[in-house]
Amino acid sequence: MAARLTVELGQEDFRDVMARVAASLVVISARLGTGFRGLTATSLVSISAEPPLVLVGLERVTVTRDGVVEGKAFNVSVLTRSQEFIAERFAGRAPAVAAAWNDIPHHLGANGIPLIDGCAAWLECRLVHVYEAGDHDICVGEVENAVKGTGEPLILWDRSFWTLR
Ligand SMILES: Cc1cc2nc3c(=O)[nH]c(=O)nc-3n(C[C@H](O)[C@H](O)[C@H](O)COP(=O)(O)O)c2cc1C
Repeated sequence: MAARLTVELGQEDFRDVMARVAASLVVISARLGTGFRGLTATSLVSISAEPPLVLVGLERVTVTRDGVVEGKAFNVSVLTRSQEFIAERFAGRAPAVAAAWNDIPHHLGANGIPLIDGCAAWLECRLVHVYEAGDHDICVGEVENAVKGTGEPLILWDRSFWTLR
């Protein structure tokens, strides 16, 4: 099946089509050893209300995925339109973030994992399932704390950042 897809539908064609799907930008954060890790993601999906579950697709080679699996927990910070530079930094496209997150305005959740200040929303999750899916792992988290913030969302569409209006 995968071979047929590769022949009939190139990876670039697939990426081009998926670029037309708008998605909210979030930062997934985790503890790793004595420090913190985080990555920019668009793969957050709300799954279940009872119990409250979300999933995020994490590329298996990322350090943040290692932190999530090791620590069995992750947090989600939903970025706003004024946080493009934070999205670039956690995507590895701007200066890297040190393990102490000292130049990222943040606070710690009850689980000891950082949440970025000034976001549209925050989630604290306990990792309950990991499913392999191609080059990513689908990490399912049970939401232990969910907080509303303010501000308009940062949206990815057609490979560019957008916001509402
Ligand atoms: C717009 C955008 C969306 C992204 N979405 C995801 C995602 O959903 N899952 C993922 O694993 N990586 C995603 N990435 C890539 C990670 O942010 C990137 O690989 C990061 O540098 C990994 O960091 P780490 O290895 O330090 O954990 C995305 C990048 C960008 C720019």
